[in-house]
Amino acid sequence: MKEEKSFGKKLVTIVGGAAVLASAFWFGGGAVGLPGGIRGGLAGLVFMAMIYAILLALPKGELKEKTFFQNIRFKLPVAIVLGVIIWFTAGAFGFPVWWQIEFVAFAMVGLLYFIILDMRALKVEKSAADWSFRLIATYALASVLFITITAQLPQFDPAYELEKLNKPPVKLSGLAGPEVIAAGREVFENNKCFNCHKVFWEGNSDRGPNLGTKQIGLYPEDYIKEQILEPRKIQSPGFDDPKSKKAMPTYYGEDLSDDELDALVAYLKTMRDPTHIPVEGKFGEQWTWWDDPKILEEGQKVFEGLEPATEGLNCAVCHGKDGIPMMTGALDFRNENNPDTDKMPDHIDAKLKDWPDALWYRRVTRGVDNTPMAPWGTIFPHLYLWKAEAYARTFHDPLDKRTEKRPVPPVPTKEEIESWKKEGMFLDPLL
Ligand code: HEC
Ligand code: HEC
Repeated sequence: MKEEKSFGKKLVTIVGGAAVLASAFWFGGGAVGLPGGIRGGLAGLVFMAMIYAILLALPKGELKEKTFFQNIRFKLPVAIVLGVIIWFTAGAFGFPVWWQIEFVAFAMVGLLYFIILDMRALKVEKSAADWSFRLIATYALASVLFITITAQLPQFDPAYELEKLNKPPVKLSGLAGPEVIAAGREVFENNKCFNCHKVFWEGNSDRGPNLGTKQIGLYPEDYIKEQILEPRKIQSPGFDDPKSKKAMPTYYGEDLSDDELDALVAYLKTMRDPTHIPVEGKFGEQWTWWDDPKILEEGQKVFEGLEPATEGLNCAVCHGKDGIPMMTGALDFRNENNPDTDKMPDHIDAKLKDWPDALWYRRVTRGVDNTPMAPWGTIFPHLYLWKAEAYARTFHDPLDKRTEKRPVPPVPTKEEIESWKKEGMFLDPLL
């Protein structure tokens, strides 16, 4: 009779085979250019198969009924150790806590499964009443479990859903500013704009532009309306790939009443940032207006008094078309080491090249007290002032000499956004 191979020999074959297979996948996959994630996944599969093969190869012990204590003696500690390992591994990979709980729960279900496998066999029922009772008890237990667990989950509340459906449509007559904005925010939520657009820190997808950091509120109402009703007409910068071009739905013209649209636009008009220049483009490859050639071109028009939307504004009259000041005392943008004016109480110690966006914005919108540098932001739309500022910077930092773009500022937090309003960083009326 052929002697059965010892467990030790089998173990060596299995582990050796698995190691060869896993390294073949890992290094071979690397050689043909498979991404690391897929190679890791393949190696993980080999590892699982190895564990399974080892379990199958375990010497068969004598079949014996175990007491409950014998049953859990090893299983329980192993499951606990496994649970702890899973918990911390999942944590280290950045899984949310609910996922960690779910992973560990799976391990515990496995424990339960193995405990049931090794339980003592049930005694044969003596009578029909016995087995009926067991059947009903099992069913009742499962039902109770199911009901208690599902009762903890969020419930469908018909009253709440109906209320949402039957809500009177937005009617603006008689509503004042903040109420209109709040109504507009609801229109934004109810029409699932958040599914594609973030608003600063809020929202869950970067499919479309972040309407907060883009500062859609700087744009005229007509432009915003048109972008909602006919989104294919003007493409958002950085969203010109075929998929993004067609992403924004075209049915809002039918879905939104005039009042809803007006409220929506009033809400979008609040999206401004007095501390940073607008950001364009898709998340991950964004840029700011400081380095946007198209914006600089438009900024030059404003700076030189050629922009119809800012008729009467001409920075060049005082600061010079080529940056050589025409008026004594006007800032010379060619000198990157120029300081901030000392005529303002909020003077900061920074050279022109290091000025924060907020200082540029403040000086140009609010001017310098008692000088010809007027508070242009009380007369002209800030959309164009930001562009002129971006252009003014090119006198000491020409676009074609730049070696890198200005970093994209971090998305402002909820607290920062609240503080802008509280600290009066916006001008009244806001242009
Ligand atoms: C399915 C995704 C999706 C939904 C839903 C969506 N948008 Fe868009 N939206 C986009 C994409 C992508 C762009 C950029 C491409 C373009 O300009 O069409 C965009 C562009 C815009 C723009 C123009 C931005 C610019 O640069 O001028 C505005 C404004 C806008 N969306 C508002 C809204 C509003 C308001 C809603 C809800 C009523 C909404 N969007 C719903 C995907 C979406
Ligand atoms: C009527 C003349 C005039 C016009 C028009 C004008 N400026 Fe000025 N600007 C001045 C003068 C004068 C100063 C210097 C103020 C001072 O004494 O600090 C100045 C200062 C500045 C400063 C520096 C503020 C500081 O902190 O030192 C900036 C930035 C600036 N102007 C940008 C602009 C931009 C951009 C425009 C166009 C949108 C513009 N200016 C239009 C006259 C003008």
